[in-house]
Amino acid sequence: MPAPAPRWGGNAKFNFIGGHNDRTLIPIEELIEATASVLRREGADLALYGLGLGPQGYPGLRRFVADKVKRWRGIDAGPDDVLITQGSGQAIDLVNAVLLEPGDTVILEEFTYQGYLNNLRRLGVKMVAAPLDEDGIRIDALAGVLDGLKRQGTIPKYICTTATIQNPTGSIMPLDRRHQLLALARDYGVPIFEDECYSDLTWGGMQAATSSATGIS
Ligand SMILES: Cc1ncc(COP(=O)(O)O)c(C=O)c1O
Repeated sequence: MPAPAPRWGGNAKFNFIGGHNDRTLIPIEELIEATASVLRREGADLALYGLGLGPQGYPGLRRFVADKVKRWRGIDAGPDDVLITQGSGQAIDLVNAVLLEPGDTVILEEFTYQGYLNNLRRLGVKMVAAPLDEDGIRIDALAGVLDGLKRQGTIPKYICTTATIQNPTGSIMPLDRRHQLLALARDYGVPIFEDECYSDLTWGGMQAATSSATGIS
């Protein structure tokens, strides 16, 4: 048997481990009101798996997501193109299950979210690092990585990026670099797997960085 995990001893006083919010900013009364109103309207459906609405998730939320990515991202998708998952972790797991087989290669940002690493290690996938600077993935360095892989006969299955509020550096990739990244990925025929879990946390100015989704482009 492997050694048991140590018991959790509580959060550290200054805890930067997860994306925690300010406790004082949780709109408790509004949440109670919204929950009560939805329960009155649709609570009986809790008796059914998936509220009896199928495996893709609550249609109202899917309509909201489709509308949001259309208005803020120019992505022309309808509610039927949206799948609601239990946090990004399940989305990452599903994308990897669809795209990857043991022995495949993917490119990740050199410092990145450990959820990707754990999932990819379990799948037996090779990970190659793309160097970062204060604006995110360095395009010149990524070109070198892609070229080196190509010489070995390897086409990576995707380039994974959290371009908006990178974990852990916090960088936001500028628009011109996003265009360069797309052009480079297109040149090498490699899809980009973008995780936008933090993009709603930007304030002001950065319209390009205001949508929340995990997806392939
Ligand atoms: C880049 C990134 N993606 C996904 C997650 C996990 O998100 P969720 O809590 O929605 O599963 C995290 C959490 O730290 C993250 O940093």
